[in-house]
Amino acid sequence: STADKGPYRHYMLKEIFEQPAVIAETLEGRIYKGRLLEESFGHEAKRLLDAAKGVHIIACGTSYHAGLVARYWLEEVGVPCSVEVASEFRYRQVVVPKDTLFVTISQSGETADTLAALRESKKMGYLGSLCVCNVPESSLVRESDVAVMTRAGPEIGVASTKAFTTQLVALRLLALALARRHGMDREKEKTLVEELESLPRQVEVALSLSEAIEEMANAFAEKTHALFLGRGTFYPVAMEGALKLKEISYIHAEAYPAGELKHGPLALVDADMPVICALPNDPLLEKVLSNLQEVRARGGELFLFSDERIRINLDHYHSLTLADICPSTAPIVYTIPLQLLAYHTAVLKGTDVDQPRNLAKSVTVE
Ligand code: G6P
Repeated sequence: STADKGPYRHYMLKEIFEQPAVIAETLEGRIYKGRLLEESFGHEAKRLLDAAKGVHIIACGTSYHAGLVARYWLEEVGVPCSVEVASEFRYRQVVVPKDTLFVTISQSGETADTLAALRESKKMGYLGSLCVCNVPESSLVRESDVAVMTRAGPEIGVASTKAFTTQLVALRLLALALARRHGMDREKEKTLVEELESLPRQVEVALSLSEAIEEMANAFAEKTHALFLGRGTFYPVAMEGALKLKEISYIHAEAYPAGELKHGPLALVDADMPVICALPNDPLLEKVLSNLQEVRARGGELFLFSDERIRINLDHYHSLTLADICPSTAPIVYTIPLQLLAYHTAVLKGTDVDQPRNLAKSVTVE
């Protein structure tokens, strides 16, 4: 009913704006005074995490993108990690290194391929299984050894938003738990936990860009293609931005690691190709800027979400700025403007935002 949407025109917008609250909810009881409260994962989790020498992550759709971000986080603390979509994983010959933890990520916990992959994994010699899931009574939760629940609440919009950012929060917690086993000291843990604590506030600030993004969306409604670029964790964030745009606005959108631009997509860049990029203040900034220079040289129109502290040396671009965002949580914060861009573009195009054509909230058949 309309009432459930409160003051919002669509469930998707409501869910985008719920993110500060559901992120805080997902952190509740899991961090305290600069410490990860690992007991909150349960006894079985400790056993698996103690033994895990590596991680294989399997998921579909938006949840797969969360897994791709997590790979950077896990390898950063010394944990080998691979990430794959469930439909590929389940039908190929996979080599499982000793003591590998099998991790699934799913909003619904009922996605057919993800469930089948979990069932298959039990015959493959994995250490055990852990799921990051939003539905406590789901098959995935029932069938996994350990469940780290996201607390996004019911997600109605087919295009996933709050489930994704809470998955990333849960995966940050998992990365912290593994980092502890790989020499993270108390000081470092304190910093990282504080970064998580400040996340709801930072997401709040990103949400305040909504009106400006609505304005920006005018430039997209007439376009037929869009290119999202990113490097490091912002590459999967770009993938998620492109997925959101294509799912609900039906604009063909593609994400590319910015460093690969010259190996193909640059051929498509002209004045009709909007190029969207998150530009956090991180060590890859200069590299990304030089990739964006290439886009400008071909007349591509740039739409940037950038850190207010950085200087952008480009002849022409549209940008909206975010304040000083913590490095460990920046992929979560920079996802917000991309969700809003897709949303406002779709509204301008008049598509069915909450129920895009041909798509289902949960793909329970293969
Ligand atoms: C469908 C939904 C997506 C979702 C994907 C995986 O494609 O439309 O929003 O990301 O399934 O769903 P899951 O419930 O496993 O996260």
